[in-house]
Amino acid sequence: MVQTAKEIVQITIRRQDPEVDNNKPYYQDYNVEVEDWFTVLDALIKIREQMDGTLSLRCACRASICGSCAMRVNGQAKLVCKTKLTSVLKDNKVTVEPVGNMPVITDLTADFKPFWDKMHAVDPYLKPEEEAPEAEYIAPNEDMVHLVGVMNCIMCGACVSDCTVLEVKDNFLGPAALAKAYRFVADPRDDTETERLENLVEDGGIWDCTRCMQCVEVCPKDVDPMDRIMAMRANSLKKKMNKGYGARHANAFTSLIKSSGILNETLLILKTKGFFNIIELIKLLPLAIAAQLAGKRPPFLSHSIKNKDKLKNIFKKLEKK
Ligand code: FES
Repeated sequence: MVQTAKEIVQITIRRQDPEVDNNKPYYQDYNVEVEDWFTVLDALIKIREQMDGTLSLRCACRASICGSCAMRVNGQAKLVCKTKLTSVLKDNKVTVEPVGNMPVITDLTADFKPFWDKMHAVDPYLKPEEEAPEAEYIAPNEDMVHLVGVMNCIMCGACVSDCTVLEVKDNFLGPAALAKAYRFVADPRDDTETERLENLVEDGGIWDCTRCMQCVEVCPKDVDPMDRIMAMRANSLKKKMNKGYGARHANAFTSLIKSSGILNETLLILKTKGFFNIIELIKLLPLAIAAQLAGKRPPFLSHSIKNKDKLKNIFKKLEKK
């Protein structure tokens, strides 16, 4: 029989129970004997089965397929069935918490209702103009191949857990729902690309992403939600959906760089908010005053770079493409 190394490690778990201590979260340490092949999930199951039957957690396939075991390990969302315990131990200790940005039900289980509501909000199904064909619709390979990555999503919620926008903006659709939206926006069998994009450029949609890359970092299936969001932004601009602040900011940024080679931040704000949008500009006054006092107010007028023409040529080439 193969012998494996055993050792004692400390696993700290965030506990929470609506029926205990007014639902107040607390952290509990467990000293667990583990073997070197253990995943984090193996250790959690050992705790539940041999040390503390009150511990609540969710898992099913134990093979990174079902997406039910996403949790935060040392502060970062992971599928615990895919995460080897030794890879996350620091001084023989690890902390496990439920996924973020979703309400906790008990201990390590979260309520995924907000996740599913947002998924439903993007109409996650094909909407062809005509009735479904009698025979199979065979899409050309080259039209589908770029969707393979996004179809790998197992809805584990890791990206939503660590999304920095969702921490401050509840109505943001979030990386999982937006990646799902892309899957249909870019599907050649769907006939509602424009209608879908018109909804997605609204508040809470594609322009709310701050490109922090957390979703890319934690996705266990390399779905890369942020790049899908950027692709939809580019599509919406091509379709001249320029109304919202996000689109205006992107267009202003490009035109300022194109004309002078330098980003004039004062003009960037004015062009984004609108020169005559008095209310929005008044709201920015405290920021302007703080910047002035800190000596960080950008100049109203800025000069151009020396080789402006070379830059213009680059833009010309890009626009031609
Ligand atoms: Fe299914 Fe982890 S238990 S993905």
